[in-house]
Amino acid sequence: MGENVRVAVTRVIPDAGLNLLRDAAQAGEIELEIWPHELPPQNDELAGLLRGATGALTLVSDRIDGAVLDAEPQLKVVSNFAVGFDNIDVDAATAHGVMVCNTPGVLTETTADMAWALLMAAGRRIVEASDYVRAGNWKTWGPTLLLGHDIHHATLGIIGLGRIGKEVAKRARGFDMEILAYDEYQDETFAAELGVTYVSLDELLARSDFVTLHCALTPETQQLIGREELAKMKSSAVLINAARGPVVDTDALTEALRDGVIWAAGLDVTDPEPIQPDHPLVFMENVVIAPHIASASVDTRDKMAVMAATNLLQAIRGERPTHLVNPDVLG
Ligand code: GLV
Repeated sequence: MGENVRVAVTRVIPDAGLNLLRDAAQAGEIELEIWPHELPPQNDELAGLLRGATGALTLVSDRIDGAVLDAEPQLKVVSNFAVGFDNIDVDAATAHGVMVCNTPGVLTETTADMAWALLMAAGRRIVEASDYVRAGNWKTWGPTLLLGHDIHHATLGIIGLGRIGKEVAKRARGFDMEILAYDEYQDETFAAELGVTYVSLDELLARSDFVTLHCALTPETQQLIGREELAKMKSSAVLINAARGPVVDTDALTEALRDGVIWAAGLDVTDPEPIQPDHPLVFMENVVIAPHIASASVDTRDKMAVMAATNLLQAIRGERPTHLVNPDVLG
């Protein structure tokens, strides 16, 4: 059986998940190929890796589009090592009879923690302060040195009050914040319990001291935050993006931060990704950028690896994967 059931893994993921696949390979159930390099496979390399594969375990940096799916008609499952799956053309996958899986739930709180880390770092200028000390500039206690903005009792605007947005809201309660949310689906029970007020996007932008993005990247949320939206924000506001880079117009954000339209930003994601090392955002003191690491805790990445490998093996074994994004594919 192993001869026919090829599984391609597009990067080395934690052993917790990889070992499940290695065991299946050892048992002769699958033939396993793992892309061993630090950098993702380029298009032609990805095509080579996926050739003849029944299952693929992919990362957000792998584009699985119609052309990739056309080339591999035997492919049954693409199991993404991420909760987001905007790197995969899901409609094309469904049309090709390919199951798409993701890793929801296990990274929710870890990602919310990271959004908070960015919020606090940007609001209180932590990276700038650390650079200041490292540069040997700390000469005395300064009455107006590195003044930031209060987080406690400030207004937090959450765009996308889904699983991660809700965890961000829970953390905000501890800071006695006023919490606003914008989402087309409204969970009134959660909002009432947590004291969250749903408002329009315009109202959220105008009233929030911190605006944090937690929506999926879809055609509707592509460049949701552009020049006009940034102009509606307070000049003292901080924008946090731990969702997807293209939700924000990078050029508009760069100008807004340069011109004082908004005060600071904390970004875990950028557009493009990675951001070019010489991009102006990289050098701005009021910008904190992390390299898309919001789910990067030891425990969470282990759980994601187990989940992604399990989804894949379930599909290969003819079972319904627990975390199937496109159930329509099963008819
Ligand atoms: C990471 O960005 C994810 O979607 O899990």
